[in-house]
Amino acid sequence: MEQKKKHNGFASGFGFILAAAGSAIGLGNLWSFPYKTSANGGAAFVILYVLCVLIIGVVTMVAELYIGKRAAANPITAYKKANKNLGWIGIFAIIIPLFIICYYSVLGGYTVKYSMNSFSGNAGIMTTFVGNIGEVILYTAIFMILAVIVVMAGIKGGIEKACKVLMPALFFILVALAVYSLCLGEGVSEGLNFYLNPDFSKIGFNEILAAMSQAFFSLSLGMGIMVSYGSYADKKINVGKSISMICIFDTLVALLAGLIIFPAVYHYKAVNADAAINLGGILLMFETLPYVFADMGAIGQIVSFFFFLMVAIAALTSVISLLEVVTQFVIQKFKIARKRAIVFVAIITFAVSIPIGISLGLVLNGNNSMLICGENWLDFFDKVTNTVLMPLGALGACVAIGWFLDKPKTFKQAVNPMQLHRALVEDGLQLGWFGKIFAVMVKYVTPLLILIVEVFGVKELLFTAQGFNLNGLGIVLTAYGLCIVCVIVYFIFFKNSQTGTNQDELKIAEKVEAVEEERKK
Ligand code: PHE
Repeated sequence: MEQKKKHNGFASGFGFILAAAGSAIGLGNLWSFPYKTSANGGAAFVILYVLCVLIIGVVTMVAELYIGKRAAANPITAYKKANKNLGWIGIFAIIIPLFIICYYSVLGGYTVKYSMNSFSGNAGIMTTFVGNIGEVILYTAIFMILAVIVVMAGIKGGIEKACKVLMPALFFILVALAVYSLCLGEGVSEGLNFYLNPDFSKIGFNEILAAMSQAFFSLSLGMGIMVSYGSYADKKINVGKSISMICIFDTLVALLAGLIIFPAVYHYKAVNADAAINLGGILLMFETLPYVFADMGAIGQIVSFFFFLMVAIAALTSVISLLEVVTQFVIQKFKIARKRAIVFVAIITFAVSIPIGISLGLVLNGNNSMLICGENWLDFFDKVTNTVLMPLGALGACVAIGWFLDKPKTFKQAVNPMQLHRALVEDGLQLGWFGKIFAVMVKYVTPLLILIVEVFGVKELLFTAQGFNLNGLGIVLTAYGLCIVCVIVYFIFFKNSQTGTNQDELKIAEKVEAVEEERKK
């Protein structure tokens, strides 16, 4: 009974859930979900979104989590263990997060600035702030350093600990602000109406696509985050229950965020008839809301502080997960200490975030001198990753589980979903009543839907109302080119070499500890 082996993963199932929810809950919930909902049919969009979470989100998340859990290793090794020919899918889990960290940290830096600046007033500062390159870089750096500190302390001692404090804090602020906002009186019902009034006539193919891609982004799917966190989860966690909770938290937070934003904005609008307000994109959060808060008088400063603090927390726990997935791989593949690995990853991503910050600042100030493919760098990176690469990563996870999983001997003959179901149970994936549905979904339905998201996402980039879009072609070619380069890199450098496991990481950590002990003596 020497079962209690040392491990370097999450100490508790709930710690894992909070960390995964921390990854999922981010700018996508607090910011893009509310404005996408208001623009795409209100409650009708919410229904659509929930369906997407159920049909695509849950299934993909189970697939990713399970791939990680059964392998207890970084995504490249985990995919290799799913099937020795599929290791290359794991490369998506390294490259997409690297890209996202770069632009997400710039926005994270904005939220830190706005939170700290709340008491001197944020109204009207957007253009001056984003145009001040030095300040933007400084705040991006502060934000990244916070994330690095947490990741450096490891899973149990860093990520789990931080999320156990930060996530409840986030929920608390969220609920308190929603209550406050809903009690503002004048304008509140117009705000709710604008946000949620169901308009089924607005729902068409594009709205369905929007809901699907929002679900991917919001649930942090398609890039190995759940593979990585799943690899650190206790073998005994209940996969189905954990994932239901993560998805419920994520959706609830997104819904509540709109209950803060729109009643407040419409209240402001009702009181200031001629106020100019912008309800979409980056301007909603960093331009409109500061005016709304400023209008609330003294209490507005407190509201502003907590609001931006909440957004900063959400962004932080997301970037932590993105940094972790890359760091895990670097540690395990190159057998270096966690400290070194995270510093290495942070320096690279920070360097790339600088031109992103500059480009966005220029564009928001009306200067279009720094664009790639007609986009500011942030939108360019966002489109390359979200529109083109993320669905591919998610497709990889579903196909790996649905069609190519190696392990059980009985699996070789498992062709139809019911056999797949039994093979998965034998392999250790217990999903209860959902198991059979899962088998059908992961094999056929979800991959097909993801493929649709991919194809039409690319089509939208290539063809706009004005006709064929060369800039869109540039984005698509960049993304697919990147895929090809990465896969080649995989086959040259990683395919036939050891890519490490969590167990290797544990050994490295023990060595480092021993050396440090020695030094102390
Ligand atoms: N899910 C996060 C959000 O909603 C974003 C994110 C995407 C984080 C992918 C990690 C990985 O903002």
